[in-house]
Amino acid sequence: MSDKRSIKIFDTTLRDGEQSPGASMNLEEKLKIAHALVDLGVDIIEAGFPIASPGDFEAVREISSAITGATICGLARCNEKDIDRAWEALKQAHQPRIHVFLATSAIHREFKLKMTREEIIERAIAGVQRAVGYCDDIEFSPEDAARTEIDFLCQVVEAAIGAGATTVNIPDTVGYATPAHMGKVIAELMNRVPNIDKATISVHCHNDLGLAVANSLAAIENGAGQIECTINGIGERAGNCSLEEVVMALRTRSDYYHADTRVDSTRLVPTSRLVAGITGLLVQRNKAIVGRNAFAHEAGIHQDGMLKERTTYEIMRPEDVGFNKTELVLGKHSGRAALADRAKAMGFHLTGEQLQDVFEEFKVLADKKKEIYDGDIAALVKKAIRQGGDDDDWTLVNFQVTCGTDQTPQARLTLRKGDQEFTEELSDGDGPVDVAFLATERITGMKLICKDYAVRSASLGHDAQGEVTLEIEHDGVAYRGRGVSTDTVEATIRAILNAINRVPIQS
Ligand code: KIV
Ligand code: ZN
Repeated sequence: MSDKRSIKIFDTTLRDGEQSPGASMNLEEKLKIAHALVDLGVDIIEAGFPIASPGDFEAVREISSAITGATICGLARCNEKDIDRAWEALKQAHQPRIHVFLATSAIHREFKLKMTREEIIERAIAGVQRAVGYCDDIEFSPEDAARTEIDFLCQVVEAAIGAGATTVNIPDTVGYATPAHMGKVIAELMNRVPNIDKATISVHCHNDLGLAVANSLAAIENGAGQIECTINGIGERAGNCSLEEVVMALRTRSDYYHADTRVDSTRLVPTSRLVAGITGLLVQRNKAIVGRNAFAHEAGIHQDGMLKERTTYEIMRPEDVGFNKTELVLGKHSGRAALADRAKAMGFHLTGEQLQDVFEEFKVLADKKKEIYDGDIAALVKKAIRQGGDDDDWTLVNFQVTCGTDQTPQARLTLRKGDQEFTEELSDGDGPVDVAFLATERITGMKLICKDYAVRSASLGHDAQGEVTLEIEHDGVAYRGRGVSTDTVEATIRAILNAINRVPIQS
C-alpha cells in the first residue's frame, strides 16, 4: 500500500474560473472542458452556480447528465431557494455534491450580511441540513474564512459538520493569507474542532498576492485533504490556485509532502491549451508547468549541463506534463485515423462530422505546410468546433486585401449568411486589419468597437498558423472571438465573425 496521502482535486474552472473577466463560456464549451477534466483525473468538477443564471443552471444540469467519472458539484448560497435550485440542476448526476457557502468574517458579517455570529451559525446549520435532505455529499464554505476570527471559525466548522457537511472548505476569498498563516488556520481547525475527523478539510485560495499555490500546499502540510483549483489558475480577479502547479508540486516533491493526487499529469498541457483556447485567456510563456518556455533552456551553461545529464537543470520531464518531445506529429501523408488519434491524445473529443471537417482542413494545410505540429492541430480542431456554426451564422466565403506604403488599404470581402452571399468592396482604414473590420461592419450592418486584439502563432516556424483573439463591443455588450489561419487577415475576419455569431439574434 502507498504511504502517500491521497489529496482530492476539486476543479472550479467552470465556476470560479468562469468568473475571470471576459472568460464566460457557452454550454458546448463547458461540456468540452468537463470531459477534459474527467480525462485529466480530477475528483470533483464544480460545474456552476445554478441560481446565478439560466445558462449556469443549464450547464450544471447538462454536465450532471453527461459526465461520469467525477463528482459534479453545484454552488449555492446558504438559503432554501439557492439550495433547491442547485439540487434541481444536479439531481441527474451519478455523484452529486451541493456546495453551500456563507460568509463568516467580521467585515462580511457587519457590512454585507448584517448578521450576528449566532445568526450565522443558525443559518449555516439550516443550509447544510436543507442540502443533506437532497444528497449525502455536502460541502460547506465559510466565505472569507482566512479573515475570520479563529475561535468563531472553529465554532462554525463544528456546527457545519454537526449538521452533516462531509467536506468543509476554508476559502481565502480575497487572497490575504500567507503560507504560515494558512498552515496555522488548518492546524488549529484540526486540533480544536472535536468532530473534524467526520469531514474532509479543503482549501480554496485566491491569488491576489501570488500565494495561492503556496498557501494550498501549506494547508496540505497541516492536514487538508482537498484542494480547490482551476486550470491555468484562472478565476475571480488574480485567479485561483493553479491546478497544474499544485499537482506537480505534490508529485515532484512527494519526498516532502508524502501526498499525491489521481491526476494524469500528461494531460496537463492539452487541458491547459483547451481552456486557454476556449476562454481566450492566454497562458504566459514563462508560466510554470504549462507555459511554452517552461522547459526551454536558453543559457549555454544550462544547455551544456542538460546534454551531460538532464537532471542538472530539470526537475520534471516535459513529457510528464504533456509536452510532446518533438511536437512534430503529422504530415501530408497522414490519414484520418492518425489525425483522430492525435486529436484524442490532445484531449479533443470530436464527433464524426467534426473529425471530417478537421481532416479536410488538415489536408489543405498539409499542402501548404510541410510539417504539422500539435499547435496546428489544436488550431484546426478549435476552428472546426467554434466556427462550424449553424445556418444563421455569418461565414467567410473569400476576401482580398491589398495595402502598402502610401496606399489606402483596399478590401473585397464576401460573406455568407444562410444561403445568401454578400460582397463589399471598399478603400478605407489604417491598414489591412482595419479595412477588414470596416468591410465586415458594412456587410453585417453591425456597429463594432474593437476593445482588444491579439495575434500569436499557434505553432512553430515561419509558416505557422496565426491565431487571432479579440473582443468586440456591440450595443454596449462585449463578445469574444477567435480565428485561425496561415493568413493573419483571414484569421482576423474569422475572429470577428466568431464574435459576431455570439451576438443574440434580435427578434
Ligand atoms: O472565493 C470564495 O470564497 C469562493 C467561495 C464560494 C468558495 O469562491
Ligand atoms: Zn473563489
